[in-house]
Amino acid sequence: MTIPPQLISRFATAKRVTVLTGAGVSAESGVPTFRDALTGLWSKFNPEELATPGAFFRNPNLVWAWYEWRRKLLKQVEPNPAHLALAQMERMFSEFNLITQNVDGLHQRAGSRNVTELHGNIARSKCSEEGTIINSWPETGTEIPKCPQCGGLLRPDVVWFGEDLPVAELKTAETAAINCDLFLSIGTSAEVYPAAGLPPLARQHQAILVEINPDVTTITKQAHFVLAGPAGEIMPQLLAQIQQAISPQPPITD
Ligand code: OAD
Repeated sequence: MTIPPQLISRFATAKRVTVLTGAGVSAESGVPTFRDALTGLWSKFNPEELATPGAFFRNPNLVWAWYEWRRKLLKQVEPNPAHLALAQMERMFSEFNLITQNVDGLHQRAGSRNVTELHGNIARSKCSEEGTIINSWPETGTEIPKCPQCGGLLRPDVVWFGEDLPVAELKTAETAAINCDLFLSIGTSAEVYPAAGLPPLARQHQAILVEINPDVTTITKQAHFVLAGPAGEIMPQLLAQIQQAISPQPPITD
């Protein structure tokens, strides 16, 4: 993949960089994306039909079991080169905001510090009755653990379809989109709002919009630069070229 030199020059002069990631950034770690067909045990379910308050109300055991399966899967995977490159990139700019729709915690495991989680985190639960956040709970087999305070069923602390995003996180994300010089949209189909509105918002406010995704998305036509390919391959190349542009090697002299 050839990265346009004009894009590297933009990075070399940028002060404020904002990144939005989606499930595609974790695909090369082995985490299935949302709109991929599910495999194995879960192949007959549509994630969009499991990730709703209605699904939990109708069949809480099924929804809890699905999230338990995803938690177990996450214990077996590692951050990939895209997560690692983003963690290094954070250290190169005076302001760097990483906004993620992912609930897998892989950015933090890769070393990113300033991560805004728009859709929550699967490692936490909350009481389905009162919303109390629960960071750890006893192993209960196939039964759903209960809230230690009120006895309500626990549910994952993630945003489901039809639910509002956390207010402070959304505000941080919008401010970061409005105020950046460069906005990178990585591994998201940009079909789910309000996150999907962030790249156009950044563009409206004069940011250079960059997309990294092997497929065409709703962002592709609006982007100033499209790096079409897997994030785990493109991000390390992009990082190396920016590093080179920011601190070029001194010429070899005799
Ligand atoms: P999607 O599954 O909709 O999209 C994943 C995107 O990643 C697609 O555009 C793929 O082309 C792209 N992709 C796949 N492999 C890639 C790779 N190696 N490198 C880069 N890109 C790759 O996932 P999201 O856009 O994250 O919300 O979905 C957004 C939200 O919808 C999720 O957070 C979740 C979901 O339903 C809630 O649960 C509220």
